[in-house]
Amino acid sequence: MNNKINFNNKTILITGGAGFIGSNLAFYFQENFPKSKVTVFDCFRNEETFHNGNLKSFGHYKNLIGFRGDIICGNINNKDDLALLDEHKFDFIFHHAAISDTRVYDQEIVMKTNVNSFYDLLAIAKRDRSVMVYASSAATYGNLPSPQTVGKESPENPYGYSKYIMDEIAIKYSLENPDLTIVGLRFFNVYGPREYYKGNTSSMVIQLGHQILDGNAPRLFNNSNQILRDFIYIDDVIQANIKACAPKQNGNYNIATGISRNFQEIADILQKELDTDFGTDYFPNPYNGYQMNTQADISSTKKNLGFEPKFSLERGIKAYIPEILRLHGTDTS
Ligand SMILES: NC(=O)c1ccc[n+]([C@@H]2O[C@H](COP(=O)([O-])OP(=O)(O)OC[C@H]3O[C@@H](n4cnc5c(N)ncnc54)[C@H](O)[C@@H]3O)[C@@H](O)[C@H]2O)c1
Repeated sequence: MNNKINFNNKTILITGGAGFIGSNLAFYFQENFPKSKVTVFDCFRNEETFHNGNLKSFGHYKNLIGFRGDIICGNINNKDDLALLDEHKFDFIFHHAAISDTRVYDQEIVMKTNVNSFYDLLAIAKRDRSVMVYASSAATYGNLPSPQTVGKESPENPYGYSKYIMDEIAIKYSLENPDLTIVGLRFFNVYGPREYYKGNTSSMVIQLGHQILDGNAPRLFNNSNQILRDFIYIDDVIQANIKACAPKQNGNYNIATGISRNFQEIADILQKELDTDFGTDYFPNPYNGYQMNTQADISSTKKNLGFEPKFSLERGIKAYIPEILRLHGTDTS
């Protein structure tokens, strides 16, 4: 997974480090570069919810049990909280904190959280001369047909728009500061350990896995064998974050496998791995304008980041099964 960077003795900030991708990154550094100095900055969850009933933030201490770096509980929307970072100087910033829920439609809070804070984080990167790797999203493409290609975006929700604007800001910032490394990663559908505390916004892999472990047929929309996504396993996403630290060129990059698979296949692979044969419980898709196919063009990611996805859907689910089993029946709160 390594590129040539030795992260030992480097100072690393991970915003959103109590969330799914950020906490996996924190453990990656701890395990592979034990002398790296990692600071996690995350607001952690409280009991507040959005109008859709989901929590306002998904960070959970259980994602960080065993992590030995520094932890700062702070809100990226709060300048006083961000000032807590002033006493540090970071070599690398991985900016993952965000409203990650694509179905939050309060435009003001999504734009403030995802966009305004990015200016502040970029200012820290400029001050410290840090490498900045940040999370963008496949949602920047909206319902555009596959292959989703950098340079052709059409966001369809506030979340996708906020990430698109982050990408635009990053491009301008790169032009104005050509000596800075700034890379945006457009993650497609990520699945794997430490996503469980995202509740109903976690991947269908764990949700269907737990339905099967409950003894039920997995529930899928009608015609799920025709609903395709580019699913990517967390280990490949971590590899992308690492490769992004030494890009051939700043820019936005699709982080995906370049291969689309359907939801029925997820259910079938899970049933094979869990040795069940419950069939499938189909129900009508309640959403209008539902994206039917994502499949990323990853040619620029391969060329400029040296990224090569290693996990097929089969291999990723197999690697994930022990964690799906361990978490079954446990509380997400
Ligand atoms: N998981 C995916 O499939 C996927 C796909 C595309 C993009 N992304 C992006 O990748 C990043 C990480 O995603 P994730 O799946 O780990 O999501 P996540 O929700 O698990 O992690 C985000 C973290 O940010 C924290 N956070 C939210 N608002 C905050 C605030 N105001 N101040 C401080 N911390 C705050 C949350 O507590 C949480 O720990 C996000 O930016 C997300 O938009 C994820």
